[in-house]
Amino acid sequence: MEISKKKMNPLTNEISLIKYLRVRFFIYLFNCVPNHGKFDKMRFTFLRWAGFKVSGIVKVFKPISISPKTFTENIHFESGVFINSGARFSVPKGGSVSISKNTLIGPGVVFETVNHGLHYEAGKSRGATIGRIEIAEGVWIGCNAVILPNVAIGKGAVVAAGAVVTRNVESNTVVGGVPAKQIKRLTDAS
Ligand SMILES: CC(C)(COP(=O)(O)OP(=O)(O)OC[C@H]1O[C@@H](n2cnc3c(N)ncnc32)[C@H](O)[C@@H]1OP(=O)(O)O)[C@@H](O)C(=O)NCCC(=O)NCCS
Repeated sequence: MEISKKKMNPLTNEISLIKYLRVRFFIYLFNCVPNHGKFDKMRFTFLRWAGFKVSGIVKVFKPISISPKTFTENIHFESGVFINSGARFSVPKGGSVSISKNTLIGPGVVFETVNHGLHYEAGKSRGATIGRIEIAEGVWIGCNAVILPNVAIGKGAVVAAGAVVTRNVESNTVVGGVPAKQIKRLTDAS
């Protein structure tokens, strides 16, 4: 099958080999450090050296994976963020994920900023569109949730385990299911 080379595919944009190796090396080291409180600082240091944009102290468990390339500078964590094990960030050039302060991310959560074209044409690439994901302050995302491109999750919202979030989520609401729908509004009493 011949793939058309005319259409630029953001997933295959070249990046410097040195940068690529640096990011891969520090992510490899990060993923070697145990998830024990004694090693939180060491994981944090490797995360920064891998190029993640971090403001304040954050706690991230291994393993973490990023794909398809290494644009870690477009992944931003604010202080007090906790990310449990197995998070995956799919953030090519032009994509971004930002997670505001005091947000909790459960195990196995996927942040996906890439969509491919829906229509198949023999011999042509599906191409790709790249988006942004914005998670506000004080959000809790349950295990194995998937956050899709161009989604913003409002302050204090909760995403139930296993949800696939395709649309923006209002502040102080709980959403769940596939696709995620509002389960409840949070009040002081709930
Ligand atoms: C969403 C969650 C927080 C429960 O919130 P809650 O407000 O106490 O929910 P309730 O148990 O009262 O259920 C409310 C409704 O949401 C539904 N619901 C609860 N969890 C759901 C889920 N994961 N997916 C889809 N629907 C869910 C319930 O079935 C119920 O529906 P109904 O009203 O039609 O019966 C919890 O179910 C959850 O998903 N926790 C995540 C746990 C986790 O990932 N921990 C990792 C540690 S970081």
